[in-house]
Amino acid sequence: MSQLRERKHKDREYDIVVFGATSFAGALVTEYLLKHYNQSTLKWTIAGRSSSRLEDVKKRVRQYSVTADELRPIVADSSNKASLDAMTSKTRVIISTVGPFALYGSLLVQSCLENGTDYVDITGEPHWVRKMIDQHNQKAEENGTLFVNMSGFDSIPSDIGTLMVVDHLKKKGAIASEVKSFFVLRETKGGASGGTIASAIEAVESGGLGSMSNPHYLCPSPKSAAAAAPKSKDTLLPFYDDEEKSWTAPFMMAPVNRQVVRRTAALLGEEHGYSQKFQYTEVLSTPNVFVSGVVFVVMIVAGLLLSVSFSRNIIKKFVPAPGTGPTRKIIETGKWATHYIAKGRTPDGREVTVRGRAKGHQDPGYGDTARMLSESAVHLALSRDKCAKGGFRTPAAAYGPTFIDRLRTAGQDWVIE
Ligand SMILES: NC(=O)c1ccc[n+]([C@@H]2O[C@H](COP(=O)([O-])OP(=O)(O)OC[C@H]3O[C@@H](n4cnc5c(N)ncnc54)[C@H](OP(=O)(O)O)[C@@H]3O)[C@@H](O)[C@H]2O)c1
Repeated sequence: MSQLRERKHKDREYDIVVFGATSFAGALVTEYLLKHYNQSTLKWTIAGRSSSRLEDVKKRVRQYSVTADELRPIVADSSNKASLDAMTSKTRVIISTVGPFALYGSLLVQSCLENGTDYVDITGEPHWVRKMIDQHNQKAEENGTLFVNMSGFDSIPSDIGTLMVVDHLKKKGAIASEVKSFFVLRETKGGASGGTIASAIEAVESGGLGSMSNPHYLCPSPKSAAAAAPKSKDTLLPFYDDEEKSWTAPFMMAPVNRQVVRRTAALLGEEHGYSQKFQYTEVLSTPNVFVSGVVFVVMIVAGLLLSVSFSRNIIKKFVPAPGTGPTRKIIETGKWATHYIAKGRTPDGREVTVRGRAKGHQDPGYGDTARMLSESAVHLALSRDKCAKGGFRTPAAAYGPTFIDRLRTAGQDWVIE
């Protein structure tokens, strides 16, 4: 079946199509591809539901390269299966930034599956990802089509950073029992878009937040993963970490990221260095106890306000509208940094510790998400033999350690200390 997919792929007009190019994130992906990949290296184009809005995107990004004129936009609507099939059957990889994905993403997944087209996105909606896994994973594994959700700031630093330190432990002969990730607050700066806020509100309103309390929610079999797991070290309370030598606070995206990393551990297992009892924790590392306390209180209050429909409706009136996002200055002066501490044991019982660091030099949710998402699709298009065969895979389980070199070449720091 996957040979059939390879034969089909040979005749495809495009390597990559960016679906949702008119979105705030999609326009940045278009800009990134335009700046870094010309059509002789990679055949790619943009797609969306409105021809005139796609032409506007072309005009806006032309300042980065006149080759924008060569883009032939594809018009497709996420509620019209025939238009999606016409698009997915023309390309080897689809990038989707059309969110909220729970509202607009399911028919596209079906279309990619039926047409054997690999797929990457930046959803942060685990309840929708779980639904797609349950409906389509088996067939995707059988026909060799790869689906990789959460290939942006959520959850590449968590998942690929963990892969980096686990892989290094393995090279030292140890199997990883624990990874702690610290998102460094003083080295992080960025903004949020209307689409991201709309997706978060959609998740609350559709009851999707309930799933976030279960770290094993995205594992292949969540119940048996939870039963086999050691007692969780996750906590919302600020604490001082002796190894990081820093105060900590809850990190907003940790509930999603830890589900992704645990799915990776379950998919890759001991063969790739993740112990069956693998533990993962993720927190913010803050400058001092006062900041930790403030972050904790803000998180609790924001969670309460979002969970009550009266306050949620007031919040909706003041947040940025879909289609809008941080200014160019915020995107270009943004940054993020993560530290990793991994622990494992060799077969003769020796404990080994590995430390790693990752750093991005643009706003994490937009400039650097566009970089990570684009490079994910490029990896699938140009290095498919280094990737997983098919199915719903996390970034680490799909792209493998060679993806870290691609991110380094793209300008991010990924370092073992
Ligand atoms: N994981 C991460 O790190 C990360 C970072 C950033 C964003 N995100 C997620 O990415 C998604 C996009 O965010 P954003 O702020 O860029 O969104 P946005 O600007 O609000 O854009 C939404 C996009 O969806 C398109 N769309 C809506 N209905 C459609 C339909 N029926 N058919 C085809 N296209 C349709 C819109 O097209 P029109 O222009 O024609 O209306 C637009 O291109 C959100 O879900 C957000 O949460 C994730």
